[in-house]
Amino acid sequence: MFDAATYIHRRRKLAEKLNGKGIVLLPGHEESPINYAGNVYPFRQDSNFLYFIGLDKPHLAAIIDLDTGTTTLFGDCLGVEDIVWEGPQPTIAELARKSGVEQTATFHQLPEALSQALKAGRQVHYAPPYRGEDKIRMSHWLGIPIAELKDKASEPLIKAIVALRSYKSAIEVAEMEHALEITAEMHVAAMKKARPGLFESDLAGVVEGIALARGGRTAYGTILSINGQTLHNPYHTNKLERGRIVLGDFGAETARHYASDITRVFPVDKTFSSRQKDIYQIVLQAETSAIDACRPGVRYLDVHLLAARIIAEGLKQIGLMKGSIDDAVHEGAHALFFPHGLGHMIGLDVHDMEGLGEQYVGYGDMQRSTQFGTKYLRLARALEPGFVLTVEPGIYFIPELFDLWRSQGKFTEFIHYEQLDHYRNFGGIRIEDNVLITPDGHRVLGPHIPKTIEEVEALRQ
Ligand code: GLY
Ligand code: MN
Repeated sequence: MFDAATYIHRRRKLAEKLNGKGIVLLPGHEESPINYAGNVYPFRQDSNFLYFIGLDKPHLAAIIDLDTGTTTLFGDCLGVEDIVWEGPQPTIAELARKSGVEQTATFHQLPEALSQALKAGRQVHYAPPYRGEDKIRMSHWLGIPIAELKDKASEPLIKAIVALRSYKSAIEVAEMEHALEITAEMHVAAMKKARPGLFESDLAGVVEGIALARGGRTAYGTILSINGQTLHNPYHTNKLERGRIVLGDFGAETARHYASDITRVFPVDKTFSSRQKDIYQIVLQAETSAIDACRPGVRYLDVHLLAARIIAEGLKQIGLMKGSIDDAVHEGAHALFFPHGLGHMIGLDVHDMEGLGEQYVGYGDMQRSTQFGTKYLRLARALEPGFVLTVEPGIYFIPELFDLWRSQGKFTEFIHYEQLDHYRNFGGIRIEDNVLITPDGHRVLGPHIPKTIEEVEALRQ
């Protein structure tokens, strides 16, 4: 964790933004069983708890009293029998000191503290819970039916958290650059190791091992497949066949839990084929132009549409699209090839703060599009200094989607469907970097990770 002053400062800012009476409830996570209580998923603390309290252990909660400005940490000190299994652990008082928290109480005093606040008519601000276990206990503590917990979550708290976590401080940016150093190593290792006959899992094991060996973990499920056209493909079972390309979308999460999210694509062979090069160059141009367009005041929706136009124009040049590019993008025809958003905020969560609601994080007062493709854009609002976001355009050949649109006669004025049969086995290409918005533009975070065709092929020799 960072030093106590960081968390004291963050809690003070939160109280200032809420500028009212009542309490803020910040529940930490519990251990989550895989198949029985004693065999648990790797523990991952809730990101709001990490941001405001910093303590990376299960079975803790905090209440910030907005009237007095004090914070209470709820948790239990371990007895000797627990220590036999779990080793010596800091006391709750020691944990509270690390976070600069003034008061402590046992965990079973938490429901009572909440019910007293409710009886006194005080507002209990809480963020919408997203894990089943949390929903059950929050429902008990607050007397709110599970189905109503989301709607009754505190909008002022959600907005205050978004207003703080959206602007990354220097120590957070440094932490994310550290994540990217590890991620660079992971991508280079995958590019160097790949050869025909290996399985995707051979590469997945190498990259995940590096994240673990550097003291962290992966920030999200590793995507590493020759079937890159499947956007969130979790499987690593295919053999690497000559003629195919591998899409690797993976990144490290540091020990302090800051994420990175990088995508690169490389050929199973030593070089890309000329058809693969053509598509790769279009995606690369879309990515670098989109990055160049990132600066304060620019709406990310407009950067997304810029990338969509570059993709559509490039596909027209190689005979897969036709007609007016502006009209094609306006009507959403490009989404046959680029069916997702250009990117999202990143920080403690890989899709930062998405648990609070994408509208608050990415749109503010803007309306979200309902059009296939653009509706998946998670960040649309005007960029501001301190935002860190991903830029990740792609071109995918999804046979099921082009067969459907073709049978529906959809966008026949923009798509050369008859050409697409040559691309049924192509896969997908996405290129992704993580970008900080600075007062006068942007900075691509982390070390340069091989990205041009020449740089990638150099690692494949
Ligand atoms: N890296 C996966 C995603 O951005 O959804
Ligand atoms: Mn991403």
